[in-house]
Amino acid sequence: MKTLFQAVALAAVALAVPAQADEAAQMALGKKLFTTATPACALCHTLKDAGSEGAIGPVFDELQPDAARVTRALRDGIGSMPSFKGVLSEAEIAALALYVSRASRMK
Ligand code: HEC
Repeated sequence: MKTLFQAVALAAVALAVPAQADEAAQMALGKKLFTTATPACALCHTLKDAGSEGAIGPVFDELQPDAARVTRALRDGIGSMPSFKGVLSEAEIAALALYVSRASRMK
């Protein structure tokens, strides 16, 4: 019985580690896309962590949008901001949503 518990504990650790690595990879991808997507978020938005000072859209350090709000803006577009639906993959949208929601809350 003890070995079964050990196996379950090991499996839990094995599952948790890739999840963290995955999040770090998403954060890195989101940060990269922030300045490389076409058109780049950085052109229109200010975000301290990304070093951008765009002044056309809201300042993310103040707005601090959650991931769902970023996803919605990217899928549907909002006001004069274009939709990125055909430009970014679902994985890229998810990475940007995680990055912008987290980075905008960093001091
Ligand atoms: C051409 C300029 C432009 C670009 C490029 C741009 N945005 Fe925007 N964005 C805007 C404007 C303008 C608004 C405000 C729209 C409004 O509220 O009418 C906005 C709003 C937003 C909002 C707030 C949505 C809400 O619910 O209030 C988010 C989040 C956002 N943009 C994310 C992004 C991300 C991420 C990118 C890069 C993939 C990006 N934007 C690229 C101009 C831009």
